[in-house]
Amino acid sequence: MYKIAVLPGDGIGPEVVNEGLKVIKAAEEKTGFDYETIYYDFGGERYIEKGGDPLPDSAISELREMDAIYLGAVGHPDVKPGILEHGILLKLRFSLDLYINLRPIKLYPGVWTPIKDKGPEDIDFVVIRENTEDLYVGMGGFFKKGTPDEVAIQQSINTRKGVERCIRYAYELTRKRNKRNKLTLCDKANVLTYAHDLWRRTFNEVGEEYPDIEKDFAFVDATTMWMVKNPEWFDVIVTCNMFGDIITDLGAMIQGGMGIAASGNINPETVSMFEPIHGSAPKYKGTNTANPLAAICAGGMMLEYLGENKAAELIDNAVSKALSSGKIKDLSAGKMGMGTSEVGDFVASLI
Ligand code: IPM
Ligand code: MN
Repeated sequence: MYKIAVLPGDGIGPEVVNEGLKVIKAAEEKTGFDYETIYYDFGGERYIEKGGDPLPDSAISELREMDAIYLGAVGHPDVKPGILEHGILLKLRFSLDLYINLRPIKLYPGVWTPIKDKGPEDIDFVVIRENTEDLYVGMGGFFKKGTPDEVAIQQSINTRKGVERCIRYAYELTRKRNKRNKLTLCDKANVLTYAHDLWRRTFNEVGEEYPDIEKDFAFVDATTMWMVKNPEWFDVIVTCNMFGDIITDLGAMIQGGMGIAASGNINPETVSMFEPIHGSAPKYKGTNTANPLAAICAGGMMLEYLGENKAAELIDNAVSKALSSGKIKDLSAGKMGMGTSEVGDFVASLI
């Protein structure tokens, strides 16, 4: 019996999570596995009402005992930017040591990409973003804040352990994927001569254990260029937290937009969390116009993580069929030609 914590969160989060759960249910009915969902109301709404810690430590302890966490979106127009991001999303990633952020960049057939002359056979790669270090650790501070002599320091932390476990995961995934058997390290080793020297050395050393995997290097600025010009060159990209954040927004655009981009925050040893990359989009809240496909795809990734490969494959195929049917007019909110729940029903019907 899988214990799945559901954190619908704010804005469109609850609506898209509902559709994701609908599709998971349909996949379960075909393949048969036991799961229960345990709901948590963490998010902006609750924070405004109750104040205090947006995600108390006691909740972290409970979540640690789950098999997986399914998150909608956090972010509320009446809460100062940063509070919920740090207090919920980043707290989950850091406290649960979810050290991999797995972001597939896959253009499904029938989906429009802004890249001319590229199709589903060209845009199909995975970004492995380190998820617990780098500029995200919150180390640093101010000196003489608010004066003309102000100094602000924000440090990028890169540990051998943290870099190595991420790179090792990337090599393993490249091998398991068995597509082009090519792993690209995306860094800025020409400028970040300490931090990314550590990344390069670790990449090469761990790489000796993977003679079957082709090693490739791309500076982050060039990576953004190749992602647009020659996305077919990529199979798996491994990169640091900050660069991974940036290049996966670009990735989301070339795969058809935020409506379809899903991600997994993974700790292969304990619990992992799955979420659409998009935010809470408050202006679409409660209007049945948000696109639930990213949440549905995140649900599929969650089932794969749990080992329900057949169910995950059913979801992926159903999403693919739904998109190639031409019935979903556009992936943007309000332009799909059907509502949020109708898209969920449609995908569920194709399972
Ligand atoms: C993401 C988001 C988060 C990040 C924000 C909301 C803190 O942009 O998941 O990519 O920067 O990691
Ligand atoms: Mn981001």
